[in-house]
Amino acid sequence: MSIIQDLEQMRDEAVGAIDTATDLSALDAVRVAYLGKKGSLTSILRGLGALSAEERPAVGKVSNEVRQSLEAALGARHAVLDAAAMQAKVSADAVDVSLPGRRRLPGREHLIEQIRREVIDVFIGIGYRIAEGPQVELDYYNFEALNQPADHPARGLADTFYVRDLSGDEAAVTGESDVLLRTHTSPVQVRVMESEKPPIYVLAPGKVYRRDVADPSHLPQFTQIEGLVVDEGITFADLKGTLDHLCKEIFGHDRRTRFRPHFFPFTEPSAEVDVSCGICAGEGCRFCGGTGWLEILGCGMVDPNVFGYVGIDPERYSGFAFGMGVERIAALKYDLPDLRMLVEGDMRFLRQF
Ligand code: DAH
Repeated sequence: MSIIQDLEQMRDEAVGAIDTATDLSALDAVRVAYLGKKGSLTSILRGLGALSAEERPAVGKVSNEVRQSLEAALGARHAVLDAAAMQAKVSADAVDVSLPGRRRLPGREHLIEQIRREVIDVFIGIGYRIAEGPQVELDYYNFEALNQPADHPARGLADTFYVRDLSGDEAAVTGESDVLLRTHTSPVQVRVMESEKPPIYVLAPGKVYRRDVADPSHLPQFTQIEGLVVDEGITFADLKGTLDHLCKEIFGHDRRTRFRPHFFPFTEPSAEVDVSCGICAGEGCRFCGGTGWLEILGCGMVDPNVFGYVGIDPERYSGFAFGMGVERIAALKYDLPDLRMLVEGDMRFLRQF
């Protein structure tokens, strides 16, 4: 077979390979196989020198034609494959506007936080400001200056978490520490009266701690909101009006309040406040234990002995105080059967509010 026939056969093979290459890298492999440095056509061209002077022009001419037709075929196939690759990329990246969107659950305030804010808003609205105190508190503020004598049962180890200094202080290790986790927000009253002169209108929300086992109506850590007013001419009527306003704002304007005599060491007289049951409207049902009323907070007129600890003149000033549990208010407002639901973090429950 003549060299020219070889060249023509090679061209036919090469064009076939080019036309059947399925992607750009396969096409490039064909190009290298024929036109690369070690390619078939290249080696034939290298061998031209060995031909006789008569053969050389004809073979040279056909070689050039073969190269040109391969290059043309490569170029054409490249354009086709390039367009196909671009098309594939475009359809892979395309956005399917008919797909449903991804659902996002918006964050929101925890129910405890919502109630806390609602109560704060009511009091900010009538001119109170917010006060704060430490959660790790001194016995003096938590008990003593609140007129709670040393033998008062609430001071017993049963209710209070004491903070021990383990660095070697014997008294602390035996449980007589004077540092504790506050059992109520009332110590903030003492701190405010110590550092400010009347008129005082403050609200003190915060965490409190008690050595209780969690059950439907107890939590070892919960939230209280304390209120304190000290001014000239403050009477029990001011206290009643203020708390009645609070209950109507929080529970609804159809609800009534009643004040029952009670005892707290730091107020005299003292009372517990009930709000009429929202389920039976005061008729008596299982939710309110048949009484028609739900207990929601403690309150009273600031005891003159407490004024004595902070140097406020009880002849000139009088005041009232109150304290409520936020978790309990949440439970009463939303008929929750168990306070623990509020702290378990179950989203199926919390999402309802
Ligand atoms: N500190 C009381 C408690 O934790 C609640 C309380 C009652 C607060 C009467 C007061 C008050 O300010 O006047 O049970």
